[in-house]
Amino acid sequence: MNVEIIKMDNLGRGIGYLNNKIIFVPKTVPGDIVEVEITKEKKNYYEGKITEIITPSKKRIKPICPYFAKCGGCDLMHISLSEALSYKLDKVNAILRKNKISYEVKNIIKSQEQYHYRNKLTVKIINNEICFYEPETHSPLKIAYCYLASEPINNLLKDLNKLNIKNGTVTIRTNYKGEILLICESEGALENTEWLIHNYPLVGIIHNGNSLYGENYLMDQINDYLFKISYDSFFQVNPYICSELFNLINDYTKDSKEVLDFYSGVGTLSIATNKNVQKTLGVEIVANAVKDANLNKVINKRDNLEFIASDTSKVKEKITSYFDTIILDPPRSGVKEEIINQIKEEKIKKIIYVSCNPHTLGRDLNLLLDEYEIKEFILLDMFPNTEHVESFCVLKMRYK
Ligand SMILES: C[S@@+](CC[C@H](N)C(=O)[O-])C[C@H]1O[C@@H](n2cnc3c(N)ncnc32)[C@H](O)[C@@H]1O
Repeated sequence: MNVEIIKMDNLGRGIGYLNNKIIFVPKTVPGDIVEVEITKEKKNYYEGKITEIITPSKKRIKPICPYFAKCGGCDLMHISLSEALSYKLDKVNAILRKNKISYEVKNIIKSQEQYHYRNKLTVKIINNEICFYEPETHSPLKIAYCYLASEPINNLLKDLNKLNIKNGTVTIRTNYKGEILLICESEGALENTEWLIHNYPLVGIIHNGNSLYGENYLMDQINDYLFKISYDSFFQVNPYICSELFNLINDYTKDSKEVLDFYSGVGTLSIATNKNVQKTLGVEIVANAVKDANLNKVINKRDNLEFIASDTSKVKEKITSYFDTIILDPPRSGVKEEIINQIKEEKIKKIIYVSCNPHTLGRDLNLLLDEYEIKEFILLDMFPNTEHVESFCVLKMRYK
């Protein structure tokens, strides 16, 4: 069955029509005519996958990665960077419209590197093979290289099977110096760790939460700041865009005095706030990340910061009018409504909302915009070659 792709959805899939029903086809682009196999049939739509490209769209480029057609990791490697950037702007603007927000985002900051930007990669090991998953089906796809991962990660991938893991998960994290922290989850002992330690710049190996060798953290540097990042602490995956995010945080806290940093991780955004800020309180649920943050404030000589370990929902009463600014950088699920209500009740003057999920951002902005207006909205291309995008949004209270 042939399908002509006419537009793209907000998961990066091409959309066409088949038998008067909509069909979603990953890895296609408007203008393509493709032969498809149906992978799912629902009452109102189909999902399909390409079996052959009959007529390629003029927008199509040759993906750099040989796994692209089958891999669930990337969605947009078949279009140019400028097409991908305008796709991301259109997608976020469509999500805002869907949430009844009349604001048009115009700016997207490019990543300095389009490939090899990721400082963290997680692979599955299935029957001793290093795998990603295929999209939709989640069937394992054997891989030896990833164009999104930094070179130190790809180098180690070549010898990862020396650990002789039959089935498990391995996360490789790296830093500005190319040092590596290896985090494995699997049954049975890891083999040849001495060989890997001798041949790679490993600073630590964690197996099932236990430290087998060296440290259980990495140090990383962004702009002039240095961070300790424990093996289970969050850190932004693209250091080039993280640097841009820090610059924005610094600029937009110039007139802030007391700042709440909800979802504070290892203290990154608190530390990136402007030097004029007198007091910052960070709240983060991962205990190790809070320990890291408390050390990071010392390393970066910011003694006006405080961090507490808690679920933000359990300390929503910390949101008081004492703070003039709140930074929200939640996980993909966004911010709970009770927290949004508390922010509105306490009339916090400024909200800086950093989001990796425009859908939950749109939902949350919809709840805020009766009392707040958008003063700035910039996209950051944190995840090139994928449909994902980071948003940076500044809101000010309407009545102050
Ligand atoms: C997107 S990250 C942002 C971290 C940090 N702002 C940064 O830029 O590195 C979200 C953080 O929220 C934390 N988190 C998730 N759910 C949470 C909750 N209910 N309460 C507090 N922190 C939470 C995660 O552990 C993670 O560190």
